[in-house]
Amino acid sequence: MTDIEQHLADLEDRGLYRRMRLVSGPQGARVLLDGKPVLVMCSNNYLGLADHPRVREAAADAARRWGVGSSGSRLISGNMTVHRRLEKRLAEFKGTEAALLFGSGYLANTGIIPALTQPGDVVFSDELNHASIVDGCRLSRAEVFVYDHGDLEHLAWGLRQARGTGSLIVTDSMFSMDGDFAPLEGIVELAHQHDARVMVDEAHATGTTGPGGRGAVAAAGLTNEVDVIVGTLGKSLGAYGAYVACDTQMARYLVNVARPFIFSTAPAPPVAAAAAEALEILIEEPRRVQRLRQNSELFRRELNRHGFEVDPTGAHIVPLITGNAESAMKMTETALERGVFAQGIRPPTVAPGLCRLRLSVMASHKQDELRAAARVLAAAAKGVGFTPDTGMPGEFAPPARFIEDTDDQDGLASVA
Ligand SMILES: Cc1ncc(COP(=O)(O)O)c(C=O)c1O
Repeated sequence: MTDIEQHLADLEDRGLYRRMRLVSGPQGARVLLDGKPVLVMCSNNYLGLADHPRVREAAADAARRWGVGSSGSRLISGNMTVHRRLEKRLAEFKGTEAALLFGSGYLANTGIIPALTQPGDVVFSDELNHASIVDGCRLSRAEVFVYDHGDLEHLAWGLRQARGTGSLIVTDSMFSMDGDFAPLEGIVELAHQHDARVMVDEAHATGTTGPGGRGAVAAAGLTNEVDVIVGTLGKSLGAYGAYVACDTQMARYLVNVARPFIFSTAPAPPVAAAAAEALEILIEEPRRVQRLRQNSELFRRELNRHGFEVDPTGAHIVPLITGNAESAMKMTETALERGVFAQGIRPPTVAPGLCRLRLSVMASHKQDELRAAARVLAAAAKGVGFTPDTGMPGEFAPPARFIEDTDDQDGLASVA
């Protein structure tokens, strides 16, 4: 057995082996998954914009006008108008002097943290920050102090120990696997006291939280207090890529120092144009954000009604903790049999023992669909020994006219 075979076998033994499922047709609230129609409860396409007609058209139009590739780093091949326009609109939307595009949120986080720290500095990072922040910390060569999740006292203690050292505090605003929020006011206050910079990742709060979907930093009135706000274009904004909202000096600094900006090809014009159009839709139609909030409340109430312990006032990301990986995956498979797709999440995405179904609500879900999903999940939970009061274990009924896009089914149901 090679070491790779051994590693794969080991992952299978531990219930941690992953495979990709095939989606035929566009991403939406319903998809054809491995050939079967399902209701999607684990997408980051929170506002349903990934297949919006205007967004599709913007991408197609951009491909006609500007072609498909950006041909290189913007510092080498030149800054395209489509990038500059998107950055201008993002800065206006976020209320900052500037915005700067990155290829993805992963690239933004792994580029910005090393850019803002030197060996000998200390990065303070919440223990539940996204993997891209963890990797950014590792790449930085600074010392990393991981503070307990949302624990301001622990953070303050760490900052006191690091007195006199250059510091950066970095946190998700809405945590990707739990849907809870960082204590931003307290973090900013501590940063002031200890002369530290603050970087906030709004990947899941952009388009979902705050005034018109402007994020949790805007909701807290802290836009001018946070040095770097990261947001993604591949979640609520339905496209791909990421941005940093900051002041002009910071943007100029990142252009010169952030390695993924310097050494990676700029976002493709159709993708940038699609994100720009999605942003216009978000600005024109704040009701999408309200709808997401209403749907989230309804879904959480429904889960509660079926016996799940879920905060009825929480966000659109809803974790159902199963503990071990086997239960999570069994629940996923049972729900899938009944037409609901809720991917189980296992280590290393979450800590061992905290496996879960990470459910996410979309503005484009219908209320009946959310009720049906809660019912199906309750029945699936029973199957792994949970005892929520499930009532009637329901089957999610696919609609009479499901989008039967079988054109791109190539018989490869999965990468085995
Ligand atoms: C909090 C957070 N930051 C960054 C990222 C990475 O963004 P991208 O998918 O654009 O690389 C994610 C992705 O899930 C995320 O959840």
